[in-house]
Amino acid sequence: MSDRLKIAVLISGSGSNLQAIIDAIQKNDIPCDIQLVVSNQAFAYGLKRAEYANLKTKIIDHTTFPDRLSFDQAVGAAIDQAGAEVIVLAGFMRIFSNWFVNSYRDRLINIHPSLLPKFKGLETHKRALSAGEAYHGASVHLVTTELDDGPIILQGRITIQPNDTVDSLENRVHKVEHKIYPTVIQWLATRRLIITKSSIILDHQALTTIGKVIDYENI
Ligand code: GRF
Repeated sequence: MSDRLKIAVLISGSGSNLQAIIDAIQKNDIPCDIQLVVSNQAFAYGLKRAEYANLKTKIIDHTTFPDRLSFDQAVGAAIDQAGAEVIVLAGFMRIFSNWFVNSYRDRLINIHPSLLPKFKGLETHKRALSAGEAYHGASVHLVTTELDDGPIILQGRITIQPNDTVDSLENRVHKVEHKIYPTVIQWLATRRLIITKSSIILDHQALTTIGKVIDYENI
């Protein structure tokens, strides 16, 4: 039996994080297979990226379902059928029901463009600038029933420069995302990272509440 990690990636848009994961798996020979890419948007550019990489794709359009739960059940059925062990949310712009989150607890990860717990929700770059923060970045975290609130696995941190604008920050944070998401997937695939009900263990040590932090000074 193959011991390669099987993942599903869920997207709604450009899919640059999906691309970074595809590239890292190919370049770094991470023992991981993307079994399925799901999009709730038929025209998401990420679907094209998946097709170029010969990945299986599925469009599940949320507007065709009567309610959140029935959409979530369809997504769950597709993931289960694909045999994915870990579900990677990469710019998936839907909030899941408690049923979904509880069904995939400890196997559901997300990337958020801020140093959580700061700036949950939207417009994180603008809010970080307005607040006069010294640092900004991105976080990979487990998904729980509270928005952007699950245990943090890895944060990529940059220093906000005096000449940074919302656009430049967004750009820089995106580059950080493209490093930290593949890193977490590599850790999972090589079993360096173990997620259990009670803790997140990296290299045999339980992570603290902000997870592991990597500084990216030259981004
Ligand atoms: C990223 O900024 C991610 O942090 C957020 O959604 C965006 C997705 O970008 N959750 P892309 O589709 O991967 O380019």
